[in-house]
Amino acid sequence: MTAFDRILKNRRSVRAFDPQPVPRDDLLAICEAARWAPSACNSQTWRFVAVQDRSQIQALCRQAMRPVIPNRWLAQAPLVIAGCSQLDIISNRIGSTVTGIEYFRIDLGIAMEHMVLKATELGLGTCWVGWFNAGKVKALLKIPRRIKVSALLAIGYAADAPPARRLRKPLEQILFAERWGAPLGE
Ligand SMILES: Cc1cc2nc3c(=O)[nH]c(=O)nc-3n(C[C@H](O)[C@H](O)[C@H](O)COP(=O)(O)O)c2cc1C
Repeated sequence: MTAFDRILKNRRSVRAFDPQPVPRDDLLAICEAARWAPSACNSQTWRFVAVQDRSQIQALCRQAMRPVIPNRWLAQAPLVIAGCSQLDIISNRIGSTVTGIEYFRIDLGIAMEHMVLKATELGLGTCWVGWFNAGKVKALLKIPRRIKVSALLAIGYAADAPPARRLRKPLEQILFAERWGAPLGE
């Protein structure tokens, strides 16, 4: 296994964090990893708000989560990054209008997964959070109306041993060759 394979396979969603803060250099390295992500037309529509203030993180957890999956563990995370998109970038808007593909969401997902992988390399745990009320996140973080918030990312040192690996579908179920449904073959 290469070092990169180890990062891919050892990453887990971490939902129990040690209170120690994420070092500033690590935060910068994580954001630098996002900066080098590819994006449609290189439009780099992603924007990030890094939240480290305890009371603000607790407010996010108390006020901006949704019922059923209330993500209460988020209150203990020492760092939460809100993944945002600036939609008034002309190349991005024209592209999405023509094809109907929301490139800004793809761009943001790639950039934030770069963050996840860099954080993993640095020995930090992460967990994506997608089950939240975007309007409430925007209000708490003073994010302007024209900006979209699509994801939160919790980052910190894991408090416990790594969670068990969650199963993945076998490759045959997700990979087709030449046409939908056809197996790759030998
Ligand atoms: C877009 C997205 C949104 C997610 N939202 C949440 C969430 O709101 N709460 C949560 O606990 N986990 C969330 N997760 C984490 C997934 O549950 C987790 O990645 C999946 O169960 C696989 O487990 P693993 O990451 O440990 O391999 C989210 C993951 C992604 C990619």
